[in-house]
Amino acid sequence: MKKMTKMDKIESLCKRRGFVFQSSEIYGGFGSCYDYGPLGVELVNNIKKKWWQSMVQCRIDIEGIDGAIIMHPKVWQASGHVDSFTDPLVDCKKCKKRFRADHLLEASGIKPDLEGRHEQPRQFKDISCPECGGELTEPRNFNLLMKTFIGAVEGEGNQAYLRGETCQGIYVNFKNVIDSTRQKIPFGIAQIGKAFRNEITPGNFIFRTREFEQMEMQYFVKPDQADEYLDYWKQQRMKWYQDLGIKPEFLRWREHGEEERAHYAKSAWDIEFDSPFGGWKELSGVHNRGDWDLSRHQKFSGIDLTYMDPDTKEKYHPYIIETSDGVGRAMLAFLVNAYDEVETRSGDDRSKHEKEIVLRLHKDLAPIKVAILPLSKKEPLQKIAKDIYTELSAQYMVKYDDTGSIGKRYRRQDEIGTPYCITVDFDSIEDKKVTVRDRDSMKQDRVLISDLRNYLKDKLG
Ligand code: GAP
Repeated sequence: MKKMTKMDKIESLCKRRGFVFQSSEIYGGFGSCYDYGPLGVELVNNIKKKWWQSMVQCRIDIEGIDGAIIMHPKVWQASGHVDSFTDPLVDCKKCKKRFRADHLLEASGIKPDLEGRHEQPRQFKDISCPECGGELTEPRNFNLLMKTFIGAVEGEGNQAYLRGETCQGIYVNFKNVIDSTRQKIPFGIAQIGKAFRNEITPGNFIFRTREFEQMEMQYFVKPDQADEYLDYWKQQRMKWYQDLGIKPEFLRWREHGEEERAHYAKSAWDIEFDSPFGGWKELSGVHNRGDWDLSRHQKFSGIDLTYMDPDTKEKYHPYIIETSDGVGRAMLAFLVNAYDEVETRSGDDRSKHEKEIVLRLHKDLAPIKVAILPLSKKEPLQKIAKDIYTELSAQYMVKYDDTGSIGKRYRRQDEIGTPYCITVDFDSIEDKKVTVRDRDSMKQDRVLISDLRNYLKDKLG
């Protein structure tokens, strides 16, 4: 039997425990789209909450918005996406499968020559289809924007796009936000929302999908301060991941080469994570977009998008420092970083010969914060346990589990990353105390039921 890789194990855990399901699974799945299950939606919401807290709630200088997914089609002409948001594509003449030309070159150990962005037929003469060995077509550019139609009639005149990146909704609201909030440069606008790309080769589970969510912040600065703020935001974004438990050695910076940079970027940096599917992969980006976006939207809309410095009366297009993170990709990196296997520790006989999974997620990210485990299904333990559930669930996501041995129940919570398990036992009837077990240290504290809220407040906030 083929040995399971770490990625196989994570995918299997995600399905088995309800983090991630294939979208439309009963129809065989669809287009590399995924659904988040009961635990996945909690993890995703916690990631977004932590991002919003650090990027909006705790920042005097950043405002949040929530823009529409479908915008005026001119937005995408102005942004350059209609002309330049392309990937190089090759088709197999025999099996008809499609591949990213640059990915095939990299897999063959050839550095893609992206001169003139993606035209490199010379490099392709010795490469054949990785699926069937068939002959490949020459590379051609394929636009990633997803098209739709607005209104009852489908035609050129009413074609629109699902947004390919959330930041465009920020640029077109630049003036509205300044006028309504009186922010002064330097300041930022942040948004979380879905984006869509007709990726040629989606894959690696939720790493590259066609529908995904972005958390983007655009920081508007004086042009001569762009380098300084690029460095500042690079530090902030790396710190965010590390503060949420990602080990420093699991992350690194990579600067985009000149030929690789997107059409809008003056300078582009990726945070990469050490993935279990082929090494270092892009997790998040920090870009200096210069004045590209505001000047282009000014040109296409005819609306003045310059900023006037209220003190010096100087007028200019601010430069934009962008931070861009994928929610699904962040979730994958947190899962990969947190996944651990340990020798049997739950005391459950049936697990003697198996390793146990412990998901060492940061407490703020853990989908379930506390599990309540009564040792008996009978009264009065059930009532004691259910009263604790009622009290704590007003504050935290709490799981009630009274099925199976206690070892098995600890195991179930460890593998979904629950930081605390509360056991209600027969002594609880007399001493009004319960045992609280810590996921990582396995330390057990005996705590008065009436003190539980305070005890957990110290641990979980
Ligand atoms: N506004 C800039 C922008 O969109 P990007 O490098 O294309 O830049 C930013 O994307 C981030 O969005 C990536 O670092 C990644 O986290 C996420 N992302 C991009 N494409 C994705 C896809 N197809 N599936 C999942 N996440 C994606």
